Amino acid sequence: MKIVVLIENSVGVLIPTGLTGEHGLSLWIEHEEYNLLFDTGQTGKVVENALRLGIDLKKTDAIVLSHGHYDHTGGLKKVLEFIRKPINIYAHRDIYSLHYALEDYYVGIPFRRETLEGLGANFEWIKEPFEIFPNIWVSGEIPRKTTFEKMDPRLYVKRNGQKLPDPILDDMSLFIKTDKGLVIILGCAHSGVVNIIEYAKEVTKEERIYGIIGGTHLSSASGDQIEETLIYFAKLDFSILVANHCTGLKVASKFKEIFGNKFRFGTTGEIITI
Ligand SMILES: [Fe+2]
Ligand SMILES: [Fe+2]
Repeated sequence: MKIVVLIENSVGVLIPTGLTGEHGLSLWIEHEEYNLLFDTGQTGKVVENALRLGIDLKKTDAIVLSHGHYDHTGGLKKVLEFIRKPINIYAHRDIYSLHYALEDYYVGIPFRRETLEGLGANFEWIKEPFEIFPNIWVSGEIPRKTTFEKMDPRLYVKRNGQKLPDPILDDMSLFIKTDKGLVIILGCAHSGVVNIIEYAKEVTKEERIYGIIGGTHLSSASGDQIEETLIYFAKLDFSILVANHCTGLKVASKFKEIFGNKFRFGTTGEIITI
């Protein structure tokens, strides 16, 4: 299995690749005979990055959207224009709820559904866990069970003209079962990284966690949440943690300090082979 960080906030590769970073996330996942594109970054720069990394996006078998935020869906139009074929997009319907942040910034998907469908998108709406390919599950809605994982108070949703706290029910992850245990792929982990890991075990009936890869949304979390999450990870038996995007450098450095070589920051261009 191979996972490539096609785009995230930073670029850290040693050799001159011409890769671009941007606030956002997109991962390329090759598992058995399937190729998945998980999120598309913010602007579509992901297409050029993929070319530079020698990845043929035309070989994408399915696209999975972790949630509707613009930094995960904003590249979708350029991706579809590039791959030029009908393709299944697995997402939760609430990617189209009116996601806002701070005073009045729209932070949702920047394209109309019809525009994307005109470019070949076939939306498959997911609410419950769904095995899209053998041993690859899209999580569906993540049950919020922990007491310390709180929603980001800066985010809200507009419904019938009202501003309501945004539960981001569209937040989904990928659970991939491998011989070594589970590999859990996070978008922004708005539902809480601990909730996601616990749900992955429940859904897949696999207790062994091999790796956790993606955004943990701890950059803006409270001190309590960060501490409880670190305690949870310290007790968790895992082999690799490749965090990036909304993890934040403060928490990333904590991860490095505690988990040493099990941790690395997944910058744009990072290749994870499992
Ligand atoms: Fe997000
Ligand atoms: Fe994000």
